[in-house]
Amino acid sequence: MTFTRKSANTIPLHDEIFSTVALAKQDIKTYGKEVVTNATIGSLYGEDNTLVAFESVFHHYDEISSKVKAAYGSIAGTDLFKKTVYDWVTENKCSSLEHSVIASVGGTGSISSLFSTFLEEGETIIYPEIGWSNYELIASQNNLQAKTYQLFEDDHFNLNSVKEVIHNLQSKQEKIVFVINDPCHNPTGYSLTNEEWKELIQFLNEVSQTNPVIVINDIAYIDFSNNLNHSRDYMKNFEDIKENVLICLSFSCSKTLTSYGLRSGATIILGKDAQAIKDVTAVSEKYARSTWSNSPNGAMENFIWVINENKDAYLKEKETYINLMKQRSDLFIQEANACGLELYPYKEGFFVTLKIEDTNYARKVKEAFIKEHIFTVVVKHGIRVAVCSLPIEKCKGLASKMKAIMNTVK
Ligand SMILES: Cc1ncc(COP(=O)(O)O)c(C=O)c1O
Repeated sequence: MTFTRKSANTIPLHDEIFSTVALAKQDIKTYGKEVVTNATIGSLYGEDNTLVAFESVFHHYDEISSKVKAAYGSIAGTDLFKKTVYDWVTENKCSSLEHSVIASVGGTGSISSLFSTFLEEGETIIYPEIGWSNYELIASQNNLQAKTYQLFEDDHFNLNSVKEVIHNLQSKQEKIVFVINDPCHNPTGYSLTNEEWKELIQFLNEVSQTNPVIVINDIAYIDFSNNLNHSRDYMKNFEDIKENVLICLSFSCSKTLTSYGLRSGATIILGKDAQAIKDVTAVSEKYARSTWSNSPNGAMENFIWVINENKDAYLKEKETYINLMKQRSDLFIQEANACGLELYPYKEGFFVTLKIEDTNYARKVKEAFIKEHIFTVVVKHGIRVAVCSLPIEKCKGLASKMKAIMNTVK
């Protein structure tokens, strides 16, 4: 007997990341933190091996009055929140486009809302083959089919694969919904070049002559780009989109403010057709109202304050951690290159990923790592190493240890 609706998926949620984190914690209890290398956690950790909560963010959060935190924050987000998000995210790089902003609970809320907005049940959404595992869950919760594109051709973005997947779908379904996680892709740390974005937009414009195109650009890690002064430059290309293309940015305060538990984020909708944007906004607002209802008011207030009143201190504090992650990833990559441990082309961000084509083999490697107290996360065609949470001391020598263990796995 089951009481759930027939189409519901009753298989218990298995989250590879959360379950491996739990195993690592148990191992630390048994063997001590000196012995264990926990490269699973996708949050920013300091060199002291504890979670970073930016002082420039949380000091003020504690000072926000209880009544502000307790109040409803309006369904689509307060006007000042929406304006601050738009200015912060786009830096007015694509200001000739019409736009709208809707608050969400984290980047997940935004992505979830967007996955439910454009396609009918049974239709197909497109996302990267190597990517955030939650795309698959969100698609299936919305009864969507999925087609994936290969992320890399040699060491660069695989536009040919994107073309192939879209061409195959074009004749079967009216709308094309295309998900890209850029910059600082999870889990490889790849970011498209400006030229790659230009070519992508050009291609999507061509597609839009026959099919409306919706781009969902998941920018969860954008504020951890190594080159912050240019991290939004690629958005200038958005100004070239045709009428029949819509761009939706999913923004997450979880990473930007190190506030994963505070559940704040937003969707920024960009396009040429004001009425089309109004329609998407209306649908998104109803999605919000019928699921989380309101975004946390205290979180919105705090974002507004940090960006408008405390920006310099915040940027300075964040920069120290961007530099730290660069040191960690540089060290790991240098050593990986030296010992022949193959990696996907990392540029920036929270994660580096070992290139292992055979995912079943990757699972065996992960188990072998665990026996040597090294905890990682298996992704499609690879193993993710979270340099965001791995102190430099733990990065040292890790690549050669991994390579040696891999040599023992058949
Ligand atoms: C690629 C990617 N997108 C979106 C998110 C959403 O994060 P949140 O819902 O905490 O904002 C995450 C979180 O890990 C992520 O890795």
